Amino acid sequence: MAVLAAGFGPLMAVVWQPQVAIRAMRRDDLAAVIEIEQSAYSHPWSVGIFADCLRVGYRCHVVTDRGQIVGYAIYSTALAEAHLLNLSVSPQQRRQGLGSILLEHVMRELMLAGVDRIFLEVRPSNKPALRLYAKEGFEKVGRRPGYYPADSGREDALVLLRNLDGSLV
Ligand SMILES: CC(C)(COP(=O)(O)OP(=O)(O)OC[C@H]1O[C@@H](n2cnc3c(N)ncnc32)[C@H](O)[C@@H]1OP(=O)(O)O)[C@@H](O)C(=O)NCCC(=O)NCCS
Repeated sequence: MAVLAAGFGPLMAVVWQPQVAIRAMRRDDLAAVIEIEQSAYSHPWSVGIFADCLRVGYRCHVVTDRGQIVGYAIYSTALAEAHLLNLSVSPQQRRQGLGSILLEHVMRELMLAGVDRIFLEVRPSNKPALRLYAKEGFEKVGRRPGYYPADSGREDALVLLRNLDGSLV
């Protein structure tokens, strides 16, 4: 089901964007997805990783603006716990609220499914993402040393947690 996702947040009247929609990612979206992925990360996922996510049944969403894919989110769930594996917005479309819309859509979907909490990893150097997650109520709960490849050696990951207690920020 496509969702006019901006319409259900607490700032609905302010951020309503009827041209923005969220839907399930399909195999034929992967060319557009990989283009964003390669512009978003120094060490991007390959198309094979995205294909595997679809194949094994991870929840994969794209956000579209006037029908064009401008971002995506992928998460897995195990019992009452979810793991956000990827959240990206096209560089040309950032700071317009799309990352928040997508993340809130994911959290709302998880709450409806009875999932209690969502974890994610993020680079300590990724200030935009850290600010987004803080704004959306995530808290730091750990650090994984050397988790990410980096231009010189490895970079730690911060582990963030958001309890899905029935409210969005
Ligand atoms: C992180 C990312 C998804 C944010 O997407 P976005 O659509 O730009 O985010 P939003 O417009 O919804 O911003 C929401 C909040 O995040 C924070 N934020 C986002 N980008 C920011 C930036 N460049 N600098 C500072 N704060 C930023 C702000 O608090 C912002 O709220 P505000 O606009 O009211 O100040 C996007 O920057 C991205 O795709 N980055 C590359 C991929 C990535 O690093 N993903 C996360 C991996 S863990």
